[in-house]
Amino acid sequence: MEPRVLVVDDEPSMCRALSAVLERFGLKVSTALDGLQGLTKFRRDVYDLVIADLKMPGMSGVELLKEIKRISPRTPVVLLTAYGTIEGAVEAMKEGAFDFLQKPFSPEVLRDVVSRALRPRDQDSPKSRPIITQSPLMLEVLDMAREVAKSSAPILITGESGTGKELLARYIHEHSPRSRGPFVAINCAALPEGLLESELFGHERGSFTGAVSQKKGKFELAHGGTILLDEISEMPLALQAKLLRVLQEGEIDRVGGLKPIPVDVRPIATSNQDLSERIRQGKFREDLYFRLNVVHLKLPPLREREEDIPLLAEYFLEKYARLNGKPVKEFSPEALEKLSRYSWPGNVRQLENVIHRAVLLARSERITAEDLILEEEIGVGRMGAGLSLREMEKRLIIETLRRVGGNRTRAAKLLGVSVRTIRNKLKEYGIDGRIFAKGGNDGAV
Ligand SMILES: Nc1ncnc2c1ncn2[C@@H]1O[C@H](COP(=O)(O)OP(=O)(O)OP(=O)(O)O)[C@@H](O)[C@H]1O
Ligand SMILES: [Mg+2]
Repeated sequence: MEPRVLVVDDEPSMCRALSAVLERFGLKVSTALDGLQGLTKFRRDVYDLVIADLKMPGMSGVELLKEIKRISPRTPVVLLTAYGTIEGAVEAMKEGAFDFLQKPFSPEVLRDVVSRALRPRDQDSPKSRPIITQSPLMLEVLDMAREVAKSSAPILITGESGTGKELLARYIHEHSPRSRGPFVAINCAALPEGLLESELFGHERGSFTGAVSQKKGKFELAHGGTILLDEISEMPLALQAKLLRVLQEGEIDRVGGLKPIPVDVRPIATSNQDLSERIRQGKFREDLYFRLNVVHLKLPPLREREEDIPLLAEYFLEKYARLNGKPVKEFSPEALEKLSRYSWPGNVRQLENVIHRAVLLARSERITAEDLILEEEIGVGRMGAGLSLREMEKRLIIETLRRVGGNRTRAAKLLGVSVRTIRNKLKEYGIDGRIFAKGGNDGAV
């Protein structure tokens, strides 16, 4: 499929000239004569690139840019400026414009910008992480995922917590014809019913107290792409009925809206609960289950794919050593043995956290069994004879920090030492205390 470009310029001759050149490059072009019209088109269809004039009556290029970035942060926007209006261009770059072109420009310059803007940026995107595995069970799931990615049928992904359900959902999106469209995730367990509904389907201005402006729901934002309905088992029953209707009709009703809005979205739902059990309890609609269950991908827990443990461990070792600039290179044989023996109730997420912490604890190029702190070992009960005082002190400090979510003041109080002591100890161990913050185990520390 050829890439689609939206050209927005208030000068019809400019629109025509740009279209002609871009079509010669093999692109599919749509044009709009002002920002508002451009935005309407952008909301309706999926575009790979937007080229807009900076100065237009009504909605300016920068305003359009902001709106587009809000809808689809990854869509590149190139702005056109008249000679000498550099301030506007600087502001545009700050707002996330991909680049700007000074008029007049040659087709060569245009070609260069366009090909840079359309180059896949998967490598630098934190969203597209590889799925590391050598397990036949997993490879089979991935084969099936790529196969079903081609259609737009709903997909249900189940698996214990931390098995990689969200990762797999992104993988499916990226291997689907919708990959250039948005990937929008919503956690159905995180919001109360009323908020969840307007989050999913949007609302009209004034539809309830506090609805001061119109708001698009995640389904609309995912138009042309994929929506991840995370933890679907927790969705309230009333909303399940509405969701079923959306899946059947392919259109949504904003809260307080007068007419349905058609959306083209591939839904992926995840659950770490047994949905048939939820159905028996009357907490999940059977008809919705059948609708979502057209394709069911089951992620095996880590303990059922032991061959992945050393592979993932090496992968996370390399990743966190690089991110933290620590010269850690390998595991001792005992460390690998310890990893393989453990049952990993928290699956890959737990393994990732354990390795992350071990990389920070390691005092040489080698991670030892001692550096690997597994849940069952944490706690004073396991800190008896056989450990050096120094090691006990270290474990106690780490465990305390973990319990208080990284709050050094509280940890210091509990341990009866000063905050400075904690800071110094952490420095001595080569640990960045931020890793203890809840949910703060991702990315650089
Ligand atoms: N096979 C894998 N290769 C590399 N990283 C993985 C793999 N599986 C999971 N991860 C990593 O483990 C962490 C947890 O994965 P993810 O969030 O997808 O799990 P989940 O099943 O959605 O968990 P939960 O049920 O708790 O929401 C993420 O950081 C993810 O990148
Ligand atoms: Mg998840």
